[in-house]
Amino acid sequence: MKKRIVFTGGTGKAGRHVVRYLVDQGYDILNVDLVPLEQPGVNTLIADIADSGEMFNVLTSHFGFEGFETGKGPGPIDAVVHFAAVPRVLIKPDNETFRINTIGTYNVIEAAVKLGIRKIIIASSETTYGVCFAEGDKDFHHFPLEEDYDVDPMDSYGLSKLVNEKTARAFAMRTGADIYALRIGNVIEPHEYDRFPAFLANPMSRKRNAWSYIDARDLGQIVDLAIRKDGLGFQVFNAVNDTITATLPTREFLAKYCAGVPVQRPLAEFEAPLSNRKAREVLGFREEHDWRKYVPR
Ligand SMILES: NC(=O)c1ccc[n+]([C@@H]2O[C@H](COP(=O)([O-])OP(=O)(O)OC[C@H]3O[C@@H](n4cnc5c(N)ncnc54)[C@H](O)[C@@H]3O)[C@@H](O)[C@H]2O)c1
Repeated sequence: MKKRIVFTGGTGKAGRHVVRYLVDQGYDILNVDLVPLEQPGVNTLIADIADSGEMFNVLTSHFGFEGFETGKGPGPIDAVVHFAAVPRVLIKPDNETFRINTIGTYNVIEAAVKLGIRKIIIASSETTYGVCFAEGDKDFHHFPLEEDYDVDPMDSYGLSKLVNEKTARAFAMRTGADIYALRIGNVIEPHEYDRFPAFLANPMSRKRNAWSYIDARDLGQIVDLAIRKDGLGFQVFNAVNDTITATLPTREFLAKYCAGVPVQRPLAEFEAPLSNRKAREVLGFREEHDWRKYVPR
């Protein structure tokens, strides 16, 4: 029996690659978005995450016309993957970004757990580490950035993502559901590797992303692994690729460009400063799309 997944934000930059990856793994997907997705076999319900009634409703819906054939009503949902959001600052006014992201995530998680869904994966962000949308040149507290870092965003988008992690933790504690928050790094689509030569030529341009990235297809693998891994309660996982977006080994690079910022543990030679060690060790993530495969050096 195929696992049935409701995916919010599947029409977006990250979502469309992750949805395709999940379809290829054999999942049945219903997309929930404000904009339809052009993906054969995946229906989009146009619905607003900021509307709680709509979220309860989409989670009790048929996925498509084939649902009517059983005569038994909509089938059970195995997991919700929640990506819909205002994905950065400066798209909407700050108060709207905060409102849509926090209320939207609250609505999706609340509806899911109250309808008995036991697995929810939400899109958190590298911005929780506080430097991405900081005013001025803020330093990281230490390296590597791992899930136990004292996250301290000052911008309204990063703050909304941090609030969402707290919402996830509260509902996981309240219900015993598994709710995993993915701190997603800068998403790179397959056609975007032509941006890397500029990253390498101007290393400080990537400080706000902690010299890290996530290939959109590898993000699909992480979501798939998170759907398969049960029983962990509330968890945070950095969702990034393995290595630094620079040509120098990480220790040398950080000594040169972040002198004075402590490095707290031994690093693998090219380990990304925003580390995916937990995703590799706990979920079994093995990246397939190292940027070095696609970027001439
Ligand atoms: N792109 C990145 O580098 C990056 C990095 C870290 C985290 N994230 C997070 O990953 C997720 C996906 O980001 P993305 O880059 O694909 O963004 P995107 O804007 O391309 O996609 C977001 C999708 O959500 C939908 N959406 C927005 N508001 C909605 C609402 N009120 N109701 C229903 N749907 C709504 C949009 O129509 C869009 O299709 C977001 O949660 C974002 O915050 C993205």
